[in-house]
Amino acid sequence: MSGDTTATGGTTPAPGANPLRDPGDRRLPRIAGPSGLVIFGVTGDLSRKKLMPAVYDLANRGLLPPGFSLVGFARRDWEDEDFAKVVHDSVKEHARTPFREEVWRQLSEGMRFVPGVFDDDAAFETLRQTIDRLDKERGTGGNFAFYLSVPPKFFPLVVQQLKKHGLSEGKGDSWRRAVIEKPFGHDLASARELNRTVHGVFANHEVFRIDHYLGKETVQNILALRFANTMFEPLWNRSYVDHVQITMAEDIGIGGRAGYYDGIGSARDVIQNHLLQLLALTAMEEPVSFDAKALVTEKLKVLNAVRLPTDMARTTVRGQYTAGWQGGVRVPGYLQEEGIDPGSVTDTYAALKLEIDNRRWAGVPFYLRTGKRLGRRVTEIAVVFQRAPYSPFDATDTRELNNNALVIRVQPDEGVTIRFGSKVPGTQMEIRDVTMDFAYGESFTESSPEAYERLLLDVLLGDANLFPRHQEVERSWEILDPVEEFWATGGRPEPYTAGTWGPKAADEMLARDGRSWRRP
Ligand code: BG6
Repeated sequence: MSGDTTATGGTTPAPGANPLRDPGDRRLPRIAGPSGLVIFGVTGDLSRKKLMPAVYDLANRGLLPPGFSLVGFARRDWEDEDFAKVVHDSVKEHARTPFREEVWRQLSEGMRFVPGVFDDDAAFETLRQTIDRLDKERGTGGNFAFYLSVPPKFFPLVVQQLKKHGLSEGKGDSWRRAVIEKPFGHDLASARELNRTVHGVFANHEVFRIDHYLGKETVQNILALRFANTMFEPLWNRSYVDHVQITMAEDIGIGGRAGYYDGIGSARDVIQNHLLQLLALTAMEEPVSFDAKALVTEKLKVLNAVRLPTDMARTTVRGQYTAGWQGGVRVPGYLQEEGIDPGSVTDTYAALKLEIDNRRWAGVPFYLRTGKRLGRRVTEIAVVFQRAPYSPFDATDTRELNNNALVIRVQPDEGVTIRFGSKVPGTQMEIRDVTMDFAYGESFTESSPEAYERLLLDVLLGDANLFPRHQEVERSWEILDPVEEFWATGGRPEPYTAGTWGPKAADEMLARDGRSWRRP
């Protein structure tokens, strides 16, 4: 049998099922069984823009059980109806799928709000009673996921409160799960500490650490591209690849997130998690199956092979945006943003050169960069190939030819592009770059689910494939810690003007290696 129905009625792939070998497995609808979701920090941005709409989209796609219940917990003087109204507005504004009255009605009947702060025992008692009542009224079966969309400093308190009030353990067959937003710690020591606290309450398989990049279709497609095809993998190594560039550029500034961002910065915010995960998926060996354990084994192996950065003056760059123009609008510099300490040395741009010490990648640099207020929003992985070992053409014939490249466009314009040389029509031999393009929008009629839709459904199904395990999180901090320590020894990030492609030092870092960043 290739799929299974869980005790709670959810449909999950059989353990060990390998969809890379047997696509039939995944054609079964993946529908959550009786369950509910409690969101801590429900008034925050993430909740309004991503989580609430994702819950609605799942309901709209028929992937939630009829009695599904959503409980908000926050410091607001709200009744259930006020909460439902907030969810309604967020759904109307941000949901991916069309608004349907009957879906909304059914979903909103299961919405409850518990007012309180995290050290308020009475509020957690109310939460326990609310869940018990939902089990009776809506048949949630005692199955609840607790989503911690709260500032990281509250993670330990919330999980301890869950334990203290008997919320962390399901009775009988029912389950309880903890979903933890990033950042998971701010360095290796704090991540380890947090891990100890969380695992003092929840078992390994009950903890879901979110890295929403893993929920993106295009990120999952990295594995399909590499391991479901024959033509790429033979080239995917040091014999053919010159270097790899992983870019996550954003045009936005820090918006209203000063409280979170200042002191954290771009490397901790994005490189430690999203970009190192992209590196792991791009560089890892083929897993024996697509289940969580096999994937983690391979991701961890390659992260362990990443050489810890040294010579950081030459292999790392940090920047901070100054006022500039973006999309025809004058935007303030980082230090002028509301809530930012005018002397802040927080990086809003970071670039690293990493090496992977294994047979496949020895000598192939992986350049990672991310930044706010860059030229445009784009996330891509560019695998840049070596030049042909010999060219029978005159140098002038190929002067406009760049290295071949395969570019995975994570977002926007999701797809894959291959760049190679072609003869320009005419009587001369002139060879120029052309591209072959796969665009999701042209090849598929289905629109991609939002990352949070996929991840929330996986939590309810208990499917951990797309969630980093703590060993990966810790190893990623181990890679980043020396960089942060080096940056902390002094100096300021290099300024770059908003709307440009980052500090000059980042260009110089590649120029020293005879390379340059792509202008995506
Ligand atoms: C988050 C970061 O993890 O990812 C944000 O904390 C960033 O700073 C966001 O803006 C970007 O996500 P996406 O899906 O828009 O690329």
